[in-house]
This record gives sequence, C-alpha cells and structure tokens, in this order.
Amino acid sequence: MRTHHCGLIDESLLGQTVTLCGWVNKIRLQAHVAFVDLRDHEGLAQVVVERDNAAAFAVAGELGYEYCVRVTGTLRKRLSVNDKLRTGTVEVLADKVEILNAAKDLPFALHENPNEDMRMTYRYLDLRRPEMQAMMRKRIKLVQALRRYLDARGFQDIETPILTKATPEGARDYLVPSRVHPGQFYALPQSPQLFKQILMMAGFDRYYQIARCFRDEDLRADRQPEFTQLDLEFAFVEEKDVQDFVEELIRHVFKEVQGVELDTSFPRMTWAEAMRRFGSDKPDLRIALELVDVADALKHVEFKVFAEPANDAAGRVVALRVPGGAALSRKEIDGLAEYVARYGAKGLAWIKVEDLAKGREGINSPVVKFLDDVALDAVLKATGAESGDIVFVGAGRWKAVTDFMGALRLKVGKDRGQVEEGWRPLWVTDFPMFEYDEEAQRYVALHHPFTAPKIDDIADLRSHAATAVSRGYDMVLNGNEIGGGSIRIHSPEMQSAVFELLGIGAEEAEMKFGFLLKALKFGAPPHGGLAFGIDRIAALMAGTESIRDVIAFPKTTSAQDLMTDAPSVVTAVQLKELGVAVVAGKA
Ligand code: AMO
Ligand code: AMP
Repeated sequence: MRTHHCGLIDESLLGQTVTLCGWVNKIRLQAHVAFVDLRDHEGLAQVVVERDNAAAFAVAGELGYEYCVRVTGTLRKRLSVNDKLRTGTVEVLADKVEILNAAKDLPFALHENPNEDMRMTYRYLDLRRPEMQAMMRKRIKLVQALRRYLDARGFQDIETPILTKATPEGARDYLVPSRVHPGQFYALPQSPQLFKQILMMAGFDRYYQIARCFRDEDLRADRQPEFTQLDLEFAFVEEKDVQDFVEELIRHVFKEVQGVELDTSFPRMTWAEAMRRFGSDKPDLRIALELVDVADALKHVEFKVFAEPANDAAGRVVALRVPGGAALSRKEIDGLAEYVARYGAKGLAWIKVEDLAKGREGINSPVVKFLDDVALDAVLKATGAESGDIVFVGAGRWKAVTDFMGALRLKVGKDRGQVEEGWRPLWVTDFPMFEYDEEAQRYVALHHPFTAPKIDDIADLRSHAATAVSRGYDMVLNGNEIGGGSIRIHSPEMQSAVFELLGIGAEEAEMKFGFLLKALKFGAPPHGGLAFGIDRIAALMAGTESIRDVIAFPKTTSAQDLMTDAPSVVTAVQLKELGVAVVAGKA
C-alpha cells in the first residue's frame, strides 16, 4: 500500500517515486498549489499538489484535517528548507492523491490541548498526537529493554492466572462471579505475589513477568485500577542480592532508554530516617529542605499546641526552615496552611526571622508570644535559621504531623523552584513490619503479609510486634515509589504466626492461604523479590506527571473507561446465569 513512511523520507530518495499513507496534519490551499503536511507515526512529510495536475488538485481541495490519505509522487528538494523537521529538506510532488477515509466533525483539533474527558472518550485521536506517540514509545522501549536484560540473564518469563484467589496488597479486590459455581467468585490478582513465591518453591529459581495487576483503590495521578508491574522473584537470596541485581537493571534501562547514567550505588535510608528527615517514605532527594524535630525545645512551654505533642511519645513537633522564606506574603502562608490542612494539619505555625541579630524584635510570628527566649532560641538554633528565613512548625499526632510537614516540604520546594535537575534514586529499607489501623483496630501489614520480619524468632516477634522491622525495601526515584519488594517468609510456622498477628485466625488463614501454608511445608527455598511499577517508570522517563499518558487505554479517576463506557450494566439474563442479583438503587 505504501513504499515509505512519511517521517523517514530523505535526500537519498531524490527523484524516486514514493507512496506515502497518513493523516492530514495541515493544509495550505493556494490558487496554484496546495501544501499538505502528511503525518504518520514516524513524523511529517510535505506534499505539494500543483494545479496543473487537475485530478490531484481537485482531491486536495476536498481534504480536511485528519483525513486519512494516500499520496504517490516524486521526491524532490524543497525550496525553503524547514530545519525543525527531520524531512525538512525534501517534499513529495504529488501525482495522485487518494482519500482513504474522511474525518468529519472532529471533536477537537489535535494541536489544541483537549480536556481530559475528551481525550479519554476519543482516545484514538488523543493517541494520534505526536507527544502521545512519543510517550507511548518510551514505554515500549522500556519494556523491550527490561525483557532483553532479563532474558539474557536466565530469567523465566512465566504467566500467572488472572482469574484467581485474593492476593492482598492493601487494596480492595475486583471480583468475577463464577457461572459454574453460583455464589462463588474469582478475584483478579492485586499482584502475582503468591504465584511467584510458589514458582520458587517449584524450582524455577528466577522468574519475571510483565504482569497486569488489579486494585480497587482511590485513584490518583500515579495510580490506576489496573496497572503493570515488572514482577521479579529469586530463590536463594538475601536483601543485598535482590537489591544489587535490580539496581543494575534500572541503571541499565536508564542508560539504554533515557541515555542517563544513574549513581553507581543507590543510597540506602531506613524508613525511620526517611520519615524523620523528609516526612515521607518516598523522599524526593532533589529538594534540599529537611525537617528538624524540635520537641525537646518545646516540652516546657505553656502553649499546649506545642507542649502536649512534645511531651507525648505518640506526638511530634517538627520544624521546616525555608531559606529566604521571610519574603512569603501573608496570603502565601495562608495558602500553605490551607494546603497542609488537606493532609490533616490542624494549624501551621510560622516564625519569620527578619533580623536574627535583633533577637525577639527581629521576629515576626503569631506564636512568638507563646515562646520564651530559651524555646525560641532553641528552635532557631536547631533549624539553623538565618535572617530572611521562615521556619514553619507543625505539631500534633506523629503520623499526621509527619504527613503534612512532608507534604509542605514538597510543596514549598516545588513552588519556590528548588527542585534540582536530574535523577535521585534511593532505597528505603527497614520498614515497620506492622502498622496499627485505628479504624479496624488491628495491625495491618505495611508491605504484604508474606514479608519476612528481621527477627527470626517467633516468640520475639510476638512480644515486639509494634516495633518489629521487616525485610522489605522500596526503590524510590525523585519522590516516586517505583518498586517494592522483600525477602519472604519461607517457614510455615512463621507465616502462620504473622497471619495470627494480623488478626487472621487459623481457620481464615486456612481458607484464604491454605495452599501457601501447605506449599511451605515441602522444602520451600528461601526467596525474595520485588516488583517495579512500569507505568510509573515510563511516566518518569516520558517526563509526565500522570501515568495515564503512558497507558494506551487508561481509566479516569472514577475508574471508568470513557471510550468503551465501562463499567456498564449487563442484561438480566447474564445476571441470572451468574446467580447474581443487583441490589436495588445501586444499578
Ligand atoms: P507493591 O504493592 O509495592 O508491591 O507494588 C509494586 C509497585 O507497583 C506500582 N504500583 C502501582 N502503579 C500504578 N497504579 C497502582 N495502583 C499501583 N500500585 C502499585 C508501584 C509499586 O512500587 N507483590 C509486591 C511486590 C513484591 O513484594 O515483590 C507488590 O505488588 O510502583
Ligand atoms: P490557636 O491557638 O489555634 O489560635 O493557634 C495559634 C497558632 O498556632 C496559629 O498560628 C496556628 O496556625 C498555630 N497552630 C495551631 N495548631 C497547630 C498545629 N497542630 N501545629 C502547628 N501550629 C498550629
């Protein structure tokens, strides 16, 4: 149908007859000549249709944007070279122009920035845009590079079931009713976690899969209800084996796909340090600002907002010094206070250091009246504040303060343009084994319930559950959690004990995970692994904020596919066959 791609014609073809197919990107109709920019996935070509060629000129007159056309003509040099275009020195003088398909009443022009709903509804048009093509190609290159690397190193690519049993990763399950077993449901996998562990028990040694995962959870720019992992598992390994291997893998793909050399050894930071210094378990190290605990300086003050959490082991009082921040207006500060309120802040105290040498006189702050000289001095010293700075102080429950001050750090860093260029990967390690869920009033696993604790002894783990640390690790890049993994529990006794600590009784454990407990009894090897979020890595490489830009057919934040209109109602017959009844009012 065609001889060349539009975006690939060049001077080596001068004088030759070529046939191109593509979409009309631009048309300039003049009295004696028509210029048509024809676009395909490789790029643009200029087509010239002269009036002397009456048949072709007539067709050119009918063309509209995004019409799908075929052009045959002779390649010649362009009179006015366009250096911005790869094909800018040549053009095709058309012999024949054919309309392969019209494009009537386009809902938006491709060069306009259409709104998100329009983009999703007409995703095929959205994807035609060169920037979308480039972002999708970045993802394709990434996946190819990952596969090549792993295939060359003896990894076994094994598919695991999609219709399966629940694998908890902290989200709700998507369920699929069974027709042949009415009243029973498959769950879509939140990850292939248990299957990959069982593959290690089955002797496959090293596994990988580009795996689709399904999680019914609140969606954000970096979360989709179905997303893709590079899922990895290794038998006979410890943390360092897995970390060293995947670090090299990531370095390799960044070099190959992005042309970027990452650090030769990613820094490692414990979870506790990350939370203390950055207020986040995925710290963005491109921002130099750091949190400083100031509880010790404020234990004795009368101001309860500070003193109570300062004297409470479950509280936190933390300061963030922003160099040059004394120039922030009242309105800007109020804006920041509103911003942190969304993260659970009950207030945001601030101290502007207008002139450090003047002591209290040089301070502008609504809370300075609550602070005696000793306290004020200690806070300023701890943060290293200088004239011209602002010091924000957050106080309250440890978790809330950590979250909102971490969010403040990012917001201020970004707003003030204090995000360094480049790539700052790191490992976060030593996560707590369990987290207390206030709502459910029980422990939940911080990673997943198959993660091994650092403590080997079951009795020890039971008596130190609240402070126990796991053998989990996350890889973080520029403030994004791009991968997470752990060394797994490989003893049935330890696995049962962890279930029990998570409030999963023996009967429930048997029902949900009996197959795992059984498999662990037949010589399961020590094993561990990790899964990378491919969508997140692709988005970072493509330089976009949203993973939707690197997923061909993503869902909206309310988990809908606007193009196909999924989810949608089904017929009464289908429901009956499945033995499913829809609760009135919810259909
Ligand atoms: P985890 O739940 O940390 O670990 O997931 C691994 C990585 O997958 C990405 N990710 C997501 N990406 C897009 N949308 C989502 N909703 C989403 N949820 C997670 C993140 C994350 O780091 N089975 C374990 C891995 C293991 O232990 O080996 C797991 O799934 O980048
Ligand atoms: P109030 O006593 O509520 O009027 O608060 C006095 C100052 O303390 C105001 O500047 C508040 O923003 C600040 N503040 C109140 N609660 C907190 C908190 N939890 N952390 C930090 N500052 C707070």
